Amino acid sequence: MLSQSVLTAMNDQIKYEFQAAFLYLSMSAYLESLELPGAAAAMRQQSDEEMDHAMKFFDYINDRGSRVTLQALEQPQTNFASPLAAFEAALGHEQKVTGLINAIYAAAVQEKDFASQQFLDWFVSEQVEEEKSASLRVARWKMAEGHPGAMLLLDHEMAEGSEGAGE
Ligand code: FEO
Repeated sequence: MLSQSVLTAMNDQIKYEFQAAFLYLSMSAYLESLELPGAAAAMRQQSDEEMDHAMKFFDYINDRGSRVTLQALEQPQTNFASPLAAFEAALGHEQKVTGLINAIYAAAVQEKDFASQQFLDWFVSEQVEEEKSASLRVARWKMAEGHPGAMLLLDHEMAEGSEGAGE
């Protein structure tokens, strides 16, 4: 069984991961509305990955003989000032998630819960990649903003997953 502090933090994290999935799906819908199908597809894939993250916590809590408690989600942001603004919001969300993962890790250390630390190691590495990808997207869309040709090129790259910010 998990300690109460680790269990509470992990149940909260299930919500945050689903909230990220919801936000990225909302961004995908926004990008579709701008006729940027490549960027929309990339954010939809990102949304799927967040659902996988939520389910990793779901399975782990069950594996430890503790109880999953799902929480209500908030409506995600539905409109953005620009594609760049959407990617900046995604980066902000990833930075917040990194802080949350670190806080769960700290709770696991406090409880001398070595199994949870090992489980969380994957998320610590994943957040390095996620922040790197999100930062690269922000940098590149900042360069392209106001230049339709450059935006179309970036959209095409995101469709191919060749922007260096995908997986
Ligand atoms: Fe599950 Fe993108 O953090």
